[in-house]
Amino acid sequence: MLVLGIESSCDETGLALYDTRAGLLADALHSQVDMHRDYGGVVPELASRDHIRRFVPLLNKVLRESRCSLAEIDVIAVTQGPGLGGALLTGAGFAAALGASLGKPVLGIHHLEGHLLSPMLSESAPTFPFVALLVSGGHTQLMAVAGVGRYRLLGETIDDAAGEAFDKTASLLGLGYPGGAALSRLAETGDAARVSLPRPMLHSKDLDFSFSGLKTAVAQLVHKSRNADGKLDDATRSHIAAGFEAAIVDVLVAKSLRALEAEGMSQLVVAGGVGANQRLRARLSRAAAEVNATVSYPPLTLCTDNGAMIAFAAGLRLEAGLAENQFSETGAFSVRPRWGLEPDSRAAAT
Ligand code: KG4
Ligand code: ZN
Repeated sequence: MLVLGIESSCDETGLALYDTRAGLLADALHSQVDMHRDYGGVVPELASRDHIRRFVPLLNKVLRESRCSLAEIDVIAVTQGPGLGGALLTGAGFAAALGASLGKPVLGIHHLEGHLLSPMLSESAPTFPFVALLVSGGHTQLMAVAGVGRYRLLGETIDDAAGEAFDKTASLLGLGYPGGAALSRLAETGDAARVSLPRPMLHSKDLDFSFSGLKTAVAQLVHKSRNADGKLDDATRSHIAAGFEAAIVDVLVAKSLRALEAEGMSQLVVAGGVGANQRLRARLSRAAAEVNATVSYPPLTLCTDNGAMIAFAAGLRLEAGLAENQFSETGAFSVRPRWGLEPDSRAAAT
């Protein structure tokens, strides 16, 4: 079965062709990061307009790369939520139009389901059941994954997402937007032990997270560390970057291990943009090995938003007979900008 995946929930337009037998055939992405940089964040209206411009060229690209024709596509899968309403509508509208013109079904996919199943596209794919740590610009969650469509929320952030904390801290350090990867590079030259930052909720018994206090502590530290010209010297900037990264990684590692223990599971899967962080990867792999657990990550190219994870999640859903989010045959479509991943919220959100 050949699945076309379409992702447009935020600032990346992703299209991919996934064959349920042969695997990923083509994956094309356009990132709008350069367009939004000047504004210090994603501008929803600009995001929507740009997605519309990209769909057809990216579709042609994946067809060319895979040597497939439009007629060979069996199913169209599109991110239906959560995300920016307008951006989601562009993808859903494109998918519905394509489905109607080809006479093919269109399946709405949950963006976070795409992220949490994406490590199964890697060479060292995990098998069910596992605990998933979802760490992106908009989400920080620990989920118990028993099988396709069988997800239970174990804990989540009560304020900022991990990626958001990286981005806000990067901005305080003058690193531009989005700053997660740049902050991580700067941290390599710093010494985390030179700064003292809190590890919010590290010792709380639940599996929830909180990162806004950490961001405030960084803001205060930045303020205190400015020299007479109001500037931060390079060494201080890198120490703060290293200290922030160490604090956030400490919390993510501790809670992930606690989730494994609470669930009696030995496989952890890390997904979402922050999953690209090398320090997080190294620390998690080491800590998991100490308790005989394994950690899987999606390939780096699939850590950020992409169409491959949407096509892949759709393929797994269809194979499991879970096609309940099919668009109507009349061509009508809807999106779900706020949409929980647990089965209860799936039903409630319609
Ligand atoms: O999953 P994603 O591409 O988009 C969302 O759905 O949010 O995640 C983007 C987030 C941004 O906050 C970005 O700063 C962060 O992932 N990120 C990183 C790294 N690479 C991307 N954070 C820390 N270290 C990185 N290497
Ligand atoms: Zn995402």
